[in-house]
Amino acid sequence: MDYAKVIEFVREMTARSGRPDNYPFRSRYEHIMRVYRWAIKLQAKEGGDLEIIALAALLHDVGWDKERPHEEVSAEMAVEYLVEQGYDEAKIGRIGEIIIRHNDKDTEEELSLECRIVMDADLLDEVGAMSVLWDCMATACEADPTYKKAYYRIKNFYQINQPKIRRCKTAAGRLEYTKRMKCIEDFLNQLERELF
Ligand SMILES: [Fe+2]
Ligand SMILES: [Fe+2]
Repeated sequence: MDYAKVIEFVREMTARSGRPDNYPFRSRYEHIMRVYRWAIKLQAKEGGDLEIIALAALLHDVGWDKERPHEEVSAEMAVEYLVEQGYDEAKIGRIGEIIIRHNDKDTEEELSLECRIVMDADLLDEVGAMSVLWDCMATACEADPTYKKAYYRIKNFYQINQPKIRRCKTAAGRLEYTKRMKCIEDFLNQLERELF
């Protein structure tokens, strides 16, 4: 599969999806690329079909619609695109299934390894050094931004997201989630020493 071509498709589709992003720095395309890179890293530890994982990660958030879930729209767009490219039918079916289920993070159902890896890569993009950066920038976008407001926002985020480790579906995903929460915790501890 020509990944550069798929990435170009993703760039075009996300540019015109019309998905409302709350903050000017929030790029759907960049999120997708981070999920793609982390899905590949998780695959290196967990195994699974690399091509299915890479394509599902690249196409998982490609669509948006006001009335329908983005998982459904993205799965349809992905399937249509891959059929057009003459890609293997059985694999297209598996990729479509991963995309349609990718947001079902609290499910107790049995999922394929490929699906669990893409879900973990997507979940990981919500926490870590990235989320500290996010909270700082989001604070700066609000009225009267201060360092203390950013600190409280990061602390609140940490408390809400710590228990969400239960959503991780692979050992490698859980390990990375733990590292990322530790990174936020260390940052908060140091910031408390410096700021107060
Ligand atoms: Fe999504
Ligand atoms: Fe996503």
